[in-house]
Amino acid sequence: MPLMEPYRIKVVEPIPITTRPERERAMAAAGYNPFNLRADQVTIDLLTDSGTGSISADQQAAGMRGDESYAGGRSFYRFHEVVSDLTSYPHIFPAHQGRAAERILFAALLRPGQTSLSNTHFDTTRANVELLGCEARDLPCPEARNLDSDFPFKGDIDLAELERALGDPGCDVGVVVMTITNNGGGGQPVSMANMRAAAEVCRRHGVPFFLDAARFAENAWLVTQREPGYAHKTPLEVAREAFALADGCAASLKKDGIVHMGGIIAMRDPELARRCEQLLIAGEGFPTYGGLSGRELEMLAQGLREVVEPDYLRSRAAATANLARMVTEAGVDIVQPAGIHALYLNAGRLLPGIPPHRFPGHALATELYLAGGVRCVELGSLFLGDVDAEGRLVTPAPFELVRLAIPRRVYTQSHFEYVAEVVAEVAKNPERMPGYRLVESPAVLRHFKCRLEPV
Ligand code: F0G
Repeated sequence: MPLMEPYRIKVVEPIPITTRPERERAMAAAGYNPFNLRADQVTIDLLTDSGTGSISADQQAAGMRGDESYAGGRSFYRFHEVVSDLTSYPHIFPAHQGRAAERILFAALLRPGQTSLSNTHFDTTRANVELLGCEARDLPCPEARNLDSDFPFKGDIDLAELERALGDPGCDVGVVVMTITNNGGGGQPVSMANMRAAAEVCRRHGVPFFLDAARFAENAWLVTQREPGYAHKTPLEVAREAFALADGCAASLKKDGIVHMGGIIAMRDPELARRCEQLLIAGEGFPTYGGLSGRELEMLAQGLREVVEPDYLRSRAAATANLARMVTEAGVDIVQPAGIHALYLNAGRLLPGIPPHRFPGHALATELYLAGGVRCVELGSLFLGDVDAEGRLVTPAPFELVRLAIPRRVYTQSHFEYVAEVVAEVAKNPERMPGYRLVESPAVLRHFKCRLEPV
């Protein structure tokens, strides 16, 4: 059986086909920031895999039975049943998206001055920790520093560092957050062995261990493929085992819930649940809808069933692996080994002539748009580096990467072939790409609203 998509297309949406002069005008008007482009100026949109998936006919049908009662809607109980079966957590709250879930969980869990430890905090997770007057500290495993090695679980947390931080009397750790898969760390998976060991260390030190489970199904699939002892388990069994190791989770369900909007907070501790519930009612909605409609809760319940199907995960992983092969054959290195939700291109290596303060990742991302209408985003010094008030780079990021994120069930093999052709075209003449200079640079969440110009 060839590795083909286990679905066919019933509803289609045209994609804009543009010319290079049109794209040059659009990019200049957008201040060379892909977030400022209009979607109708983009041919293939690889900006994010979040909320951009295609819903299934079964999800759409489920949505039709959404119960929109303010309190106690039937849809909540159907959603609850699926999440409870998956996570085993007794307290489950919907939230409108991941960052709302994080805000509530951390506000209920952390006191100012405490530290949150993680394999890598996603940027909104970090922001929500810091907004509470706490420190967000990343402890990625040492293998993650070698982008080229094929170490299978570069998403792991550094267990020795975790033990050290938890044993340090000067460090008041309020929570340990394991991000699966590790989005900020190249979309790499976390092994069950690492999760189990981290959970054990946390239990010994009496510190809550939570999952940021946005891509729990993709992590589970990679465990079945890469971790000894898991080849014969289903992704659902592996995911259940991961949730069972933790005290609870916060998750954006815009990824592995395959819906356009949604999130959850779930936990074992009834006292923590009571505090979260109060914050949820004040900020999101009554606990049986938590910022979502009955229609969305139904679609989520169905999406969570579909996302753990082995045929779906196998084909999605194969599509990413195939794109990874085409891109590397075109001469562009990626963070190895390829994960599932995105490819991370090594722009620093492709563009040695562009120094970090001229943002090589941004140069590559911009050129992919200009050459072929492919929208993606830099994950390098523009996003992660320290910049002063005049927009000058003070501290560069450790790597200059570009993320090609892959929406779920949206693009076909020929779209990926097109993307690979655009990458190959751009990679032929790296010296022709200009660097960039910041001309407007907001103090917080710079990458969303900054403006640049080529130099
Ligand atoms: N945690 C992780 C690991 C994420 O990747 C994201 C979002 C969030 C939390 C926040 O969830 O967007 O629903 O509020 N990641 C998106 C991305 C935006 O493009 O990687 P949200």
